[in-house]
Amino acid sequence: MQISVIGAGYVGLTTAACLAELGHRVFCGEADVNKLDNLIAGYLPFFEPNLEQIVGRTRGTGRLEFGSTEEAIDRGHAIFICVGTPPLENGDADLSAIETVARTIAKRAHGYRLLIEKSTVPVQTGCRLRRYLTLHKSNQLKFDVVSNPEFLREGSAVEDFFHPDRIVVGVDCEQAAEQMREIYEPVLNGTVDCPVHTNCDSRKQARFIVTDTNSAEMIKHASNSFLATKISFINMVADLCEAADADISKVAEGIGLDTRIGASFLKPGIGFGGFCFPKDLQAFVRIAETFGCDFGLLKEVECINQDRIDKFVQKVKKELWVLRGKRICVWGLAFKPDTDDVRFAPALSIIRQLLAEGARVQAYDPKAMERAKKEIPEVTYCQDVYEAAEGADAIVVLTEWLEFRMVDWTRLVTLVERALIIDGRNTLVVEDVLSHGFQYVGIGGACRMPEMASSLARV
Ligand code: UDX
Repeated sequence: MQISVIGAGYVGLTTAACLAELGHRVFCGEADVNKLDNLIAGYLPFFEPNLEQIVGRTRGTGRLEFGSTEEAIDRGHAIFICVGTPPLENGDADLSAIETVARTIAKRAHGYRLLIEKSTVPVQTGCRLRRYLTLHKSNQLKFDVVSNPEFLREGSAVEDFFHPDRIVVGVDCEQAAEQMREIYEPVLNGTVDCPVHTNCDSRKQARFIVTDTNSAEMIKHASNSFLATKISFINMVADLCEAADADISKVAEGIGLDTRIGASFLKPGIGFGGFCFPKDLQAFVRIAETFGCDFGLLKEVECINQDRIDKFVQKVKKELWVLRGKRICVWGLAFKPDTDDVRFAPALSIIRQLLAEGARVQAYDPKAMERAKKEIPEVTYCQDVYEAAEGADAIVVLTEWLEFRMVDWTRLVTLVERALIIDGRNTLVVEDVLSHGFQYVGIGGACRMPEMASSLARV
């Protein structure tokens, strides 16, 4: 089946490359000429583990091509719509890019098209898309509209594509469902070798859920909102643990062992960022309001998340007293590890507040510095964890990159002005930090001074 993907962003480019890896012929259309030129020259617009290799391989075999949106519409029997739906001022999703694609399809397409909305869109967008196309299309065009929400996490998007928990399709007829099953067949029956794992025996069998488009669209927003709720819940409990001298890591472990709760997404820290949770949460609250429903719970989830920034800065001030003139080393800028994405990154919000208090910030991130520089040029960007730590009055960890757990603490302690670590992601091995003479301050647990650790060890 000739497949087209419209939009070469985080979702579109990953979807296009992975569908080509499944064996389909895929044409990926991108409206941004610069991004398109870079893709044709072999440069990806963002870092995503394993994606560059897959794009290179599938382009080499001619299964993946890049070009204009118009050409994508002309060539694709099945057309995945993966354009951005960013938040408007009031929190509504901006659907103008979706409408632009619909208009172009109505103008250009003839014959049959399977139109697959993969962008995250408010419930009933599929119905509106159907109505729009029915009104504006030429009578040579026959089409079905499908909702096929994505559940790809940045940093593990390729793995998530080949090992999904479920593939959700919202359809208006059985024939559309059958075509979607055909597209994902290699993933559903486990016949494709996933490019991330060598032995895939442990592959969990993905469920193929067929429903209507409204329910499929609702699954996406409800799924992300629930995950965000888990994160704000554990952060709320972490604050109480801190006040009551309990240990949030043990509390999270203890509740997560209940299979009804599950251990994932219970990591406390400086809150969730990225271009999905904050945007989808806001959008879901707005969608509910338009249907007369009050999602007060999710408004509170948002508030708890926003409060993390102030709470963390207060924690730094509590240790450093006056921030003006202090040198603060920041490890981690990306909104999560294994990505270069800094959109809605809590790290950037925290840095802005530290700078506003007159602190001098020197930062290091393995992948995200180029993007962070565009957002906050007044930070000193360093080449590694050690350069960033030179003369620092405190080291704050804001993204849980694995390399931060493996630094040479003996060397590090000779570089800093004060041996203080404030770990915003509870990611470091505390014993390593304490045994090298650092004071450790985490989230949701007691501040562990070296003498405190030894007294705890004696208990
Ligand atoms: C999310 C959803 O997981 C994915 O299914 C959806 O398709 C897109 O949005 P993503 O935003 O890429 O994926 O990353 P995710 O791993 O979900 O993390 C989102 C944010 O939550 C990050 O800032 C992360 O640091 C934070 N987080 C995650 C926590 O603070 N605690 C946790 O336990 C997990």
